[in-house]
Formats: sequence, structure tokens, C-alpha cells
Amino acid sequence: MNQLSNDESEIMGMGLCAKLWQRFFCVRVCVFFCLSLIVSSAGSSANAGEITLLTPKIKSVVYARAPSTHFVLKVSEKKDVDRLELVSKSGKVSPLAIIKKNKNFFVHFSVPLTPGMNHFTVSPPGQKVTIEYKPLRTLLNVNFDASSVYLYHRRDLMQPECRQCHDVNSVPDDYIVHSLPYGDNSPACYSCHKAILAGTNWQHSPVANLLCEACHHQDEKIGLISVAKGKDSSLCYRCHLVKGKAWDRLPYVHQPVGFGVCAICHNPHGDTYRYQLWADGKADLCVSCHVDKEILLAKDTKGLIVHGIIKGSGCVACHDPHASENPFMLYKPINELCTGCHTELAGVTKGHPVGGHPVSGPHNPLRPERGEFNCASCHNPHGSRYAYMLVGDILGGHVCAQCHN
Ligand code: HEC
Ligand code: HEC
Ligand code: HEC
Ligand code: HEC
Ligand code: HEC
Ligand code: HEC
Ligand code: HEC
Ligand code: HEC
Ligand code: HEC
Ligand code: HEC
Repeated sequence: MNQLSNDESEIMGMGLCAKLWQRFFCVRVCVFFCLSLIVSSAGSSANAGEITLLTPKIKSVVYARAPSTHFVLKVSEKKDVDRLELVSKSGKVSPLAIIKKNKNFFVHFSVPLTPGMNHFTVSPPGQKVTIEYKPLRTLLNVNFDASSVYLYHRRDLMQPECRQCHDVNSVPDDYIVHSLPYGDNSPACYSCHKAILAGTNWQHSPVANLLCEACHHQDEKIGLISVAKGKDSSLCYRCHLVKGKAWDRLPYVHQPVGFGVCAICHNPHGDTYRYQLWADGKADLCVSCHVDKEILLAKDTKGLIVHGIIKGSGCVACHDPHASENPFMLYKPINELCTGCHTELAGVTKGHPVGGHPVSGPHNPLRPERGEFNCASCHNPHGSRYAYMLVGDILGGHVCAQCHN
């Protein structure tokens, strides 16, 4: 912190900042030159010794995916910049950047949060700040009406104070945007919110093209930047309407899709995996909820015979993650699905596994409640402890005895 030189305003501790800084360089030099004239003739300014916490509110509830938030303080005296401390439970936080502008120092911190209550002290003056962090992965459980809720911020984060440096009017020169039919590309949010796209491999098109306001808009009545309340899907279907209508019409809908919690799987901005998923959508994502199926993906499956297809193609080889015509969101009725790959049995109605044995029928004696008799009546489609993933041991006719005594 004490690297700040006296006669030059500087940003420290950040790689990212260099470009933005360059764009302000000319302005800054002029401003600084004029200022130094004023300062040297007029002495110390009227608001000497002031430290103002510009963000966050001292009691905030932050709903976000990323477990972090920013503190920005305005400090009018160099000696206070050197003394300024932001302390969290795990110790002192180092500033991200200190930028001097118009006689004031703007000190930025990026602070990690842990779920639940987070306590901070800013000193001087010993200001206590409490932030309750709630990890977010769908809009469904957000109480937008609670007054302490930080999500989506007040207009005053875009106050003129911040705009001295944060350009909300032009897209950075090195950033390419394409126009989309959902509104105008706008740089208003990017300068402060670069981090939502940093390090992502797959980016949602309206986000990458800076159409933030297609989903977040300034609510003039309450003075908040907001996002649709309620179901994620009502937001998603504004643009993915054809998909939404198609899924609505299908008889078998995956429960989270039916509930409209799209963002529980898809990051609305961008993420590590294709389709902006936060885990590999082929299988890892599925077993994050279907924990009983996690063993199917393990290196050591402990005597379990796993269906060979799961390793390469995952769960989505058979199940649609959203909805389908068939029970369990299978792409096709079971026997058709199986024989689509096991073509030697395609069209076969009798003769497997023993001469004359049917492979389909109206009743499954093993599980009457599940109705029809099909390939999955004898083979567990995921895996089992028995050879050929059978529902019982073929040796000694145990598997046959499940249905015939
Ligand atoms: C004196 C100039 C200045 C002022 C005033 C200023 N900032 Fe910044 N801010 C910067 C610079 C420079 C960066 C680094 C930019 C970059 O990432 O390239 C930055 C970065 C940020 C970041 C992103 C940090 C990150 O993780 O990438 C946030 C958020 C932010 N500022 C918020 C604010 C808010 C809110 C205000 C007003 C309360 C504000 N800033 C006022 C100069 C300023
Ligand atoms: C001057 C900087 C600045 C600008 C410009 C800005 N924001 Fe923010 N925004 C912040 C800060 C600081 C936070 C608090 C969370 C953080 O530190 O990342 C925040 C929080 C948010 C949040 C909620 C995140 C949470 O933690 O609850 C949303 C959503 C958001 N901003 C959207 C926008 C949108 C949309 C725009 C453009 C219309 C915008 N912001 C412009 C600084 C800015
Ligand atoms: C397709 C709609 C959509 C677009 C476009 C979009 N957002 Fe969001 N944003 C959301 C939703 C939904 C949430 C809250 C739920 C979530 O994160 O899953 C959110 C949350 C946020 C948050 C909260 C922080 C966090 O970590 O969750 C910030 C900040 C934010 N958006 C900024 C932006 C910015 C900046 C842009 C433009 C570059 C943008 N958003 C574009 C839908 C969108
Ligand atoms: C403002 C319009 C808009 C909104 C709102 C929107 N999207 Fe998109 N989305 C697009 C566009 C444009 C594309 C890129 C074109 C395409 O592939 O359809 C896209 C692409 C996608 C893709 C990748 C598709 C592919 O084939 O690669 C996914 C996944 C996605 N969106 C999910 C969502 C989810 C989930 C939501 C709600 C949180 C949402 N979208 C809301 C416009 C939108
Ligand atoms: C259970 C997790 C999950 C949920 C919930 C979910 N998706 Fe998906 N979505 C996926 C996976 C996995 C894929 C990739 C499919 C593939 O690999 O074939 C995908 C692909 C997509 C695609 C691109 C491929 C396509 O089918 O066009 C879009 C668009 C999309 N999802 C939108 C949505 C919307 C809108 C919602 C909410 C109604 C939603 N998703 C809910 C997991 C999910
Ligand atoms: C966010 C949690 C979540 C994720 C991620 C998830 N599911 Fe589900 N899934 C559920 C819930 C909740 C149900 C309904 C309760 C149940 O049957 O366990 C369900 C039900 C199912 C069913 C049974 C449907 C029925 O009719 O009985 C299948 C099959 C399924 N999911 C497959 C998948 C696949 C494949 C994936 C990965 C693409 C996946 N799930 C990812 C939450 C999830
Ligand atoms: C070879 C096709 C296939 C693959 C691959 C597959 N499933 Fe299934 N799955 C099925 C069939 C068929 C059923 C219906 C089973 C029945 O009738 O007993 C089913 C049923 C389910 C069910 C509901 C009944 C139950 O067993 O809990 C869930 C949940 C499920 N699958 C999740 C998954 C997950 C998670 C994966 C990936 C790890 C996966 N499936 C991979 C074919 C498959
Ligand atoms: C998307 C393609 C695909 C689908 C659909 C599929 N399988 Fe498979 N199946 C495979 C692959 C690949 C293997 C591994 C073959 C190997 O190891 O040589 C396999 C292996 C098997 C085996 C073990 C074969 C052996 O020699 O050990 C059985 C039994 C089996 N599948 C039954 C089924 C049943 C029943 C269904 C329907 C519920 C089904 N399969 C659906 C691709 C598929
Ligand atoms: C009545 C129980 C039963 C039904 C129904 C059944 N199988 Fe089998 N399946 C077996 C048994 C037992 C074996 C063990 C090896 C053998 O005797 O051929 C087997 C073996 C297999 C094999 C591996 C050996 C081979 O022949 O390549 C595959 C693949 C297979 N079955 C697929 C299917 C498919 C696909 C269906 C549905 C069209 C189906 N099975 C229906 C009991 C059944
Ligand atoms: C999941 C239940 C199930 C299993 C396991 C099963 N079967 Fe069957 N089997 C049936 C059904 C259903 C039928 C047709 C209706 C009936 O006759 O009861 C049938 C019919 C038969 C028939 C009469 C075929 C005909 O020509 O009419 C024989 C023989 C037979 N099974 C032998 C076996 C043998 C041997 C095994 C072990 C390899 C076996 N079954 C495993 C359900 C099963």
C-alpha cells in the first residue's frame, strides 16, 4: 500500500487494470496538473481526513455464484490511505487497486466470502460491515423484497463518483461485439463486472456481446438493477421460446426443468463446460444430484459391472436432460433405445436370451408397478453386480428364478 508515490497517482496490485488506466492517462495528467496548482495555492481541502465507504452497504445480503464481493472506499488524505485497513475473520485484506483521482484516493478491495455471515472492520474509523453470503444457483429462492438484499444493486453503484474512471459508455477497443436481435450492445456494466466472464470457456451469447440489459434492467420505480423475479425459465424462454414451448408440450419433463430452475445447471453468463454448464453435462452434472449413481463413474466400481456406454457418452446417451416423449426422459421407448446400439437384437421380439423367450410384453413380473416387460426388466441399464448387468446371477439360473419359480 505504501508504494503510492506522492506526485503521481497510481494503480497497484492489478494486471487487468493497465488497459483501463491507459485510457485515462491523458485525462489524468491534465487533471492532476490543474489539481496540483490548486492544491499548492489553496492548501488542504475542506473535506480533509474523510474516509467514505462507497460500497457495500454496511448490512448486506449478497446472493451470488462467485463467493466474493468488492469494497470501494474514497479516502481524501494520503496518510489515511497508508493507515487504511480492511480486516476480515481470516485477517487483513490487501487492496486490489488504489487509484488517485481528483485529489481523492479510491481504494478497491476484492474480498472472499463464506456462506453465512461475514464480518469486516474498516479502520479508521472502525466501521463494522456485515455481509450475509448466500450461494446462488437459481432465482427461485431469492427474496427480492427484503430491503437488505444486495442483489441487484442500487443505481448509486453507478454513481458519478465511480464513473470518473469506469467508462459506462464505450466498448473497450480490444473487445469485439456482434449485434443480436435482442437489443443494443451496451458497455454499461462491463467495466466493473469483467469478472463474470473471466476464466470461462463457454460464454452465453447475449452476455459475451454485452447485452446485459436484456436480462438485467434498471427498475426506475425502485431504483434497482434487477433481473426477472421467480422462475429462471420465464427469463430464458423470452429468447429460447421455441425450446420452451416444445418442452412444455412433452409428457415427461425433468423435475428441475419443470420447476423452471434452468440456472441450477446452466450459468446464465458463462462457465467451464459447454452450454455454460458448471460441470460436464454428459454425466458429472447429473450425479451431483443423483448421488446414488455416482458410483457408476468411479474408477474403482467395487465389483459393479457398469454399462460400457456410460464411460464414453455418459447419461445423455439415453436421457434427455430436459424432457422427452418417453418415461425417464429417454430418447426412445426402451427396447428401441437399446437395440439402436445393440443392433443384433433390432426388431427381435422373441428368442433372447433363450429360444422363444419374449423380449417385450405388457407385464414385468419382477416389478409389476413399473408396467411393461422389456430389455430393462432383465438388464439394469446402468449396471449391476452381475454379468451382462443382469438383475440376478446367470449361474445357477438365479436370474431366471427372479421371474420363474
Ligand atoms: C479513480 C478511478 C476509479 C474510481 C473512482 C472507481 N474505480 Fe473501480 N476500478 C478502477 C480501476 C482502474 C479498476 C481496474 C480495472 C480493470 O479491471 O481493468 C477498477 C476495478 C473495479 C472493479 C472490478 C475489479 C475486478 O475484480 O476486476 C469493480 C467492481 C469496481 N472497480 C467498482 C467500483 C465502484 C463501485 C466504484 C464507485 C463506488 C469505483 N469502482 C470507483 C478505477 C476506479
Ligand atoms: C461502477 C461499477 C459498477 C457498474 C458500472 C455496475 N456494477 Fe453491478 N455491481 C458493482 C459492485 C461493486 C457490486 C457488488 C458485488 C461485487 O462487488 O461484485 C455489484 C453487484 C451487481 C449485481 C449483484 C451481485 C451480488 O453480489 O448481489 C448485479 C446483478 C449487477 N451488479 C449487475 C450490474 C449490471 C446489469 C450493470 C450494468 C447495467 C452493473 N451491474 C453495473 C459495481 C458495478
Ligand atoms: C440471459 C440473461 C442474462 C444476461 C444476458 C446477463 N445476466 Fe447477469 N444474471 C442473470 C441471472 C438469471 C442471474 C442470477 C442467477 C444466477 O446467477 O444464476 C444473474 C446474476 C448476475 C450477477 C450476480 C453475481 C453472481 O455471481 O451471480 C451479476 C454481477 C451479473 N448477473 C452481471 C451481469 C453482467 C455484467 C451482464 C452483461 C455482461 C449480465 N449479467 C448479463 C441473467 C443474465
Ligand atoms: C436475450 C436473449 C436470451 C436470453 C434471455 C437467454 N438466452 Fe440463451 N442464448 C441466446 C442466444 C442468442 C444464444 C446463441 C444462439 C443459440 O445457440 O441459440 C443462446 C444460447 C444458449 C445456450 C447454448 C446453446 C447452444 O446450442 O450452444 C444455452 C445452453 C442457453 N442459451 C441457455 C439459456 C438459459 C439457461 C437462459 C436463462 C437463464 C437463457 N439462455 C436466456 C439468447 C438468450
Ligand atoms: C439438470 C440440468 C439442466 C437443467 C435444469 C436445464 N438444462 Fe439445459 N442442458 C443441460 C445439458 C446437460 C445440456 C447439454 C445437452 C447435451 O449434451 O446433449 C443442455 C443443453 C441446453 C441447451 C442447448 C442444447 C439444446 O437442447 O438446444 C439449451 C438452449 C438449454 N439447455 C436451455 C435450458 C433451459 C432454458 C432450461 C430451463 C428451462 C434448462 N436448459 C434446464 C442441462 C440442464
Ligand atoms: C439439480 C439437480 C439435478 C440434476 C443436476 C440432475 N437431476 Fe435428474 N432429477 C432431479 C430431480 C429433483 C428429479 C426428480 C426426483 C427423482 O426422481 O429423483 C430428477 C429425476 C430424474 C430422472 C427420473 C425421471 C422420472 O421420470 O422418474 C432421470 C432419468 C434423471 N433425473 C436424469 C438426469 C440426468 C441424465 C441428468 C444429467 C443430465 C440429471 N438428471 C441431472 C434433479 C437433478
Ligand atoms: C443405456 C441407457 C442409459 C444410460 C446411459 C443411463 N440411463 Fe438412466 N435409465 C435408463 C433406463 C432405460 C431407465 C429406466 C429404468 C427402468 O425401467 O428401470 C433409467 C432410469 C433412470 C433413473 C430413474 C430410475 C432410477 O434408476 O433411479 C435415473 C435417476 C437415471 N436413469 C439416471 C441416470 C444417470 C444419472 C445416468 C448417468 C450416470 C444414467 N441414468 C445413464 C437408461 C440409461
Ligand atoms: C448409445 C448406445 C447404447 C445404448 C442405447 C445401449 N447400449 Fe448397451 N452397451 C453399449 C456399449 C458401448 C457397451 C459396451 C460394449 C463392450 O464393452 O464391448 C454396451 C454393453 C451392454 C451389455 C453388456 C454386453 C457384454 O458383452 O458384456 C449389455 C447387456 C447391454 N449393453 C444392454 C443394454 C440394454 C438393455 C440397453 C437398453 C436399456 C442398452 N444396452 C442400451 C452401448 C449402448
Ligand atoms: C428375459 C431376460 C432378458 C431380456 C428381456 C433381455 N435380455 Fe439380454 N440377456 C439376458 C441374459 C440372461 C443374457 C446373458 C447371455 C446370454 O445368455 O446370451 C443376456 C445378454 C445380453 C447381451 C450380451 C450378450 C449378447 O448376446 O451380445 C446384450 C447386448 C443383451 N442381452 C441385450 C439385450 C437387449 C437389447 C434386450 C432387449 C431387446 C435384452 N437383452 C433383453 C437376459 C435378457
Ligand atoms: C424379468 C422377468 C424374467 C426373467 C428374469 C426371465 N423371464 Fe422368462 N419370461 C418372462 C415373461 C414375462 C415371459 C412371458 C410370459 C410368461 O410366459 O410368463 C417369460 C417366458 C419364458 C418362457 C416361455 C417362453 C415361451 O416359449 O413361451 C421360458 C422358457 C422362460 N421364460 C425361461 C426363462 C429363463 C431360462 C430365464 C433365465 C435365463 C428367464 N426366463 C428369465 C419373464 C422373465
